[in-house]
Amino acid sequence: MKRTKIKDCHNQTQPLENVFVKGWIRTKRDSKEFSFIEINDGSSLKNLQVLADAALKNYDDIKKLATGSAIAVKGKLVPSPGKGQQWELSAQFFDIIGESPSNYPLQKKRHTDEFLRTIAHLRPRTNKYGAMFRIRSELAYRIHSFFHHKGFQYIHTPIITGSDCEGAGELFQITTLDIANTDKLQVDFSRDFFGKEAFLTVSGQLAVEMFALSLGEVYTFGPTFRAENSNTRRHAAEFWMVEPEMAFYDLNDTISLAEQFIQTITHEIMNNCFDDIELFARFVDKQLMHTLNTIVQNKFERISYTEAVHLLKTSGKQFDYEVIHGKDLQAEHERYLTDDYFKKPVIVYNYPKTIKPFYMRLNDDQSTVAAMDILVPNIGEIIGGSQREERYDILLERMKETGIQTENYSWYLDSRVYGSAPHSGFGLGFERFLMLLTGVQNIRDVIPFPRTPKQLFF
Ligand code: 4AD
Ligand code: MG
Repeated sequence: MKRTKIKDCHNQTQPLENVFVKGWIRTKRDSKEFSFIEINDGSSLKNLQVLADAALKNYDDIKKLATGSAIAVKGKLVPSPGKGQQWELSAQFFDIIGESPSNYPLQKKRHTDEFLRTIAHLRPRTNKYGAMFRIRSELAYRIHSFFHHKGFQYIHTPIITGSDCEGAGELFQITTLDIANTDKLQVDFSRDFFGKEAFLTVSGQLAVEMFALSLGEVYTFGPTFRAENSNTRRHAAEFWMVEPEMAFYDLNDTISLAEQFIQTITHEIMNNCFDDIELFARFVDKQLMHTLNTIVQNKFERISYTEAVHLLKTSGKQFDYEVIHGKDLQAEHERYLTDDYFKKPVIVYNYPKTIKPFYMRLNDDQSTVAAMDILVPNIGEIIGGSQREERYDILLERMKETGIQTENYSWYLDSRVYGSAPHSGFGLGFERFLMLLTGVQNIRDVIPFPRTPKQLFF
């Protein structure tokens, strides 16, 4: 018999016979003759109320069931006389699939996020995390759909790589050598699996650039890894990145695409995950709807790095870190721009070349590059992108300047030899987008099984 999802039960307009659902018990109230059992199957935030009564042959066993148990129920979907739901399922057949003992960790009370991280394998059974991971799934789908409709091709870039795209040295090395028992300086990587050093990718950009210069408009969307030892609420060691890359786009074209991308998808998530988003607006961030509406309805602010530094220096605000032209903006500086000053997303462009990677296009002033970061309220940087250096000589010079071993990048340089063309792209932190959409403050709470320094749950 075909199973009905609880989400579809709630969407019914008429009573229905022979409805068959399966799920886990969230709460239960028993009296002598009948029990009200709230079950959830993960398809929606709303539970389904099941009415089980003494006419069921296993009613004595049903009465003993605890929260967390897995059950299957067949019956009639009828209007509910009780408050809070339109429909309830009057059980005619009740199967106990898997009992849960009374020490089930998720009892009916609010648990802290910190506690729930210690039971990351069970937390998707709570309202909040069920909602989170439905939104996460919808977000991934909407991202693919956005690019698909614009005619972009989806490219799978490698996870194992020999190059450090960002040049920041935050690579996780992978090896099959027994390096634990070898003096680090003595390790002979020519004997390693690939015959040379190998790492987990920090970004698919360099690879996807090759496809922009052949298929035109492309994107990669996959896991990336950074051995950044910063224990902040917005950094994870494993996170997903969306990286579009477009031939014949300049920096402004890329900025416009990025802005449209964030606005369109925010709007779609608000419309298509309404119940789940509303939970976050009620219990996690009271400002959430205001923040999201601001994003969708207003053009983002655009300001050069030099202007931003000037604005911060003359703000009269005391920062923990001094604002220095030529240094990275700190989180507190970014927050001032988005949360206090402009009160909306801010696009900062033309950064000093000294604080950006080798591949960004050198501007005519010879000191800045055609880079852009998009900063958003609550989070800070959500997107980093740039126009790429397409001029062979300048690129080679920048590689040498930044200490890149050019012999490993001959393939990359080749793209600037054979029909080089202007191109641009950006990387969006998928988890940071989820934090923005839900108001959740810690990246650990938007990833199914987060990986952060000293934290590897399994
Ligand atoms: O600014 P990033 O380092 O840019 C790149 O990697 C470029 N190669 C992207 C490109 O142009 N194709 O990273 C891009 C975004 C950041 O803006 C941030 O949202 C996210 O990735 N990000 C992280 N998210 C979670 N945890 C971390 N440790 C992150 N590091 C970067
Ligand atoms: Mg960045």
